Amino acid sequence: IKRITTHTLQEMKLRGEKISMLTAYDYSMAKIVDAAGIDIILVGDSASNVMAGHETTLPITMDQMIYHASAVVRAVKRAFIVVDIPFGSYQGNSSEALRSAIRIMKESGAHSVKVEGGSEIKESVVRILSAGVPVMGHLGLTPQSIYKFGTYTVRAKEEAEANKLLEDAKMLEECGCFAIVLEKIPASLAKKVAESVSIPVIGIGAGPDVDGQVLVMHDMLGITQEFKPRFLRQYADLQTIMTGAFKQYISDVKSRDFPNESESY
Ligand code: KIV
Ligand code: NA
Repeated sequence: IKRITTHTLQEMKLRGEKISMLTAYDYSMAKIVDAAGIDIILVGDSASNVMAGHETTLPITMDQMIYHASAVVRAVKRAFIVVDIPFGSYQGNSSEALRSAIRIMKESGAHSVKVEGGSEIKESVVRILSAGVPVMGHLGLTPQSIYKFGTYTVRAKEEAEANKLLEDAKMLEECGCFAIVLEKIPASLAKKVAESVSIPVIGIGAGPDVDGQVLVMHDMLGITQEFKPRFLRQYADLQTIMTGAFKQYISDVKSRDFPNESESY
């Protein structure tokens, strides 16, 4: 199997082949999604919500991100693996950012890191890139700064915010980022960004005219059911399937149907 690299992703943008990306946080799920042929696996700090049950992505720690990332790395043969640097581990100063990026790369074996924000974190981005660590940017709705905005509504609808986002995207490209995630912004703005930079732009709630799409695995599988934004297409109803299996098992245990003779020694 030929591994996906930053180079492969760049070529996909040039060819106009859309890039597929999903999150994964553990060995078993990462193995399945990698074998299915996904291009990029994001060990997102959405693990804070999906794995740990926190309301936001803020509480997850470096150690916890490295635990999830290591498990994913052990499972994956083909996909390119990106790991979110958690809140509070790169915004303070650029040497802290570099230290965090290096810890993730060394301790998990992942291939790159993702950070949220534009001009505010430029120094950190540059410093991480200077160590040879590929960086993916993330603009638009940036969940680590949710308390600054107060809501999860669509971002950059106003011209000033849209202009800043476009400038930030160009800045991230100039610094040397290999790709940018755009979350929950108008499709027309996302299209403009994708046309204005030469690196791949991956959208989530950013419309069709970007270079690829990303979703949170548990949301697209219908394991989480509370979270249903317009941009989420649900590809399975695993909550119903799992509930059925669990109920059947419980009933089989209670009725002594399980285990039967062939299931016993
Ligand atoms: O943590 C995450 O899952 C993400 C994606 C939504 C892009 O950052
Ligand atoms: Na994230």
